[in-house]
Amino acid sequence: MTDLFDRIYKDKGPLGKWAKQAEGYFIFPKLEGQISNKMHFNGKEVITWSINDYLGLANHPEVRKVDAQAAQDYGMAYPMGARMMSGHTKYHEQLEQELAAFVQKEAAYLLNFGYQGMVSTIDALVSKNDVIVYDVDSHACIIDGVRLHHGKRFTYMHNDIASFEKNLQRATKMVEETGGGILVITEGVFGMRGEQGKLKEIIALKEKYNFRILVDDAHGFGTLGKTGAGAGEEQGVQDGIDVYFSTFAKSMAGIGAFVAGDKEVIQFLQYNLRSQIFAKSLPMPMVLGALKRLEMIRTMPELKEKLWENVNALQNGLKENGFNIGSTNTCVTPVYLEGEIPEAMAMVHDLRENYRIFCSIVVYPVIPKGMILLRLIPTAIHTLENITETINAFSSIREKLEKGIYKRVVASMM
Ligand SMILES: Cc1ncc(COP(=O)(O)O)c(C=O)c1O
Repeated sequence: MTDLFDRIYKDKGPLGKWAKQAEGYFIFPKLEGQISNKMHFNGKEVITWSINDYLGLANHPEVRKVDAQAAQDYGMAYPMGARMMSGHTKYHEQLEQELAAFVQKEAAYLLNFGYQGMVSTIDALVSKNDVIVYDVDSHACIIDGVRLHHGKRFTYMHNDIASFEKNLQRATKMVEETGGGILVITEGVFGMRGEQGKLKEIIALKEKYNFRILVDDAHGFGTLGKTGAGAGEEQGVQDGIDVYFSTFAKSMAGIGAFVAGDKEVIQFLQYNLRSQIFAKSLPMPMVLGALKRLEMIRTMPELKEKLWENVNALQNGLKENGFNIGSTNTCVTPVYLEGEIPEAMAMVHDLRENYRIFCSIVVYPVIPKGMILLRLIPTAIHTLENITETINAFSSIREKLEKGIYKRVVASMM
């Protein structure tokens, strides 16, 4: 027998093992100042490319006014208790109705957090005779929701329709024996590499197979589709999504999330989502603030237009300058470079300290060994000047990387 904490003392986990080298700089950095295209990091002003405030609502004066007024009128506590008990208000209901209409579904239900809400939604939708088929690159909230499932689950290769169909066939065979149903789960937009989930191809297979589909559209909501209803609308298959999910953590620049679908299904979730039944309701500033944000997304198409002007300028500019941005077809803009982790750290240090550009860095095991992914999130508040400055900086650091300068920086520190 060992002390339970022995493992913790020995093994800090896949991210924790980097704490000594990376904490405060690459991990848990402190971005200070108002959320904007420029913020402060390490005492310096930097162009920020790591915030999912796609439509620039986080710090919009009208949003700030409503948030502040709601906090003044209601405080941060009201309503107390879970929705079912004492935490229900007409504003929660109004927000649900407006969200449902926005994503073209009959009904919606609020979740306090996207992560917990997704875990709970998966838990509520399936029982042990059911089978889940999901994309292997799914967000942690999907993976953790699937972990609660007592029945069988199959992953399919990322966005690979042949692999999807093969696993759907396996699942179909299995439910013929168990008498259960099939839940397919994918993201509308994969947030690391920026590819849309292949919703059109997946949903087309409903003609041949019997399954229901749950889509996590965290990055698609507000950014894709004619009205901003997301990846399903963009691909012309919003109707085929049985359960639509999005968080408020991105385009809505807030906290909270929701699920939407047919009235009867949403009513079932209302009575069976453990993350909501056993948790306090969203406080009023989040609810009134979300109503304001949604109204602006609906009535100010210029926000999405400006976002896409910036996305196109950034992605075209990077491609024209020879950068590999993979197969993104959304706002998420990955830039792939080659190098080892220590070199990548030296490069990002240079980028932040000397070029004043702040973006997220992703390395192995999220992407293959020897690759570096710098992830840029353009928003409606970036300027074309920010974009030019960033592309020039990227050209400069790529040259240094290729000349081995960062390798030498690392070697000199050993
Ligand atoms: C794809 C995806 N799903 C779910 C979540 C979780 O949402 P929340 O931050 O509201 O917990 C996130 C991150 O915000 C996300 O990127």
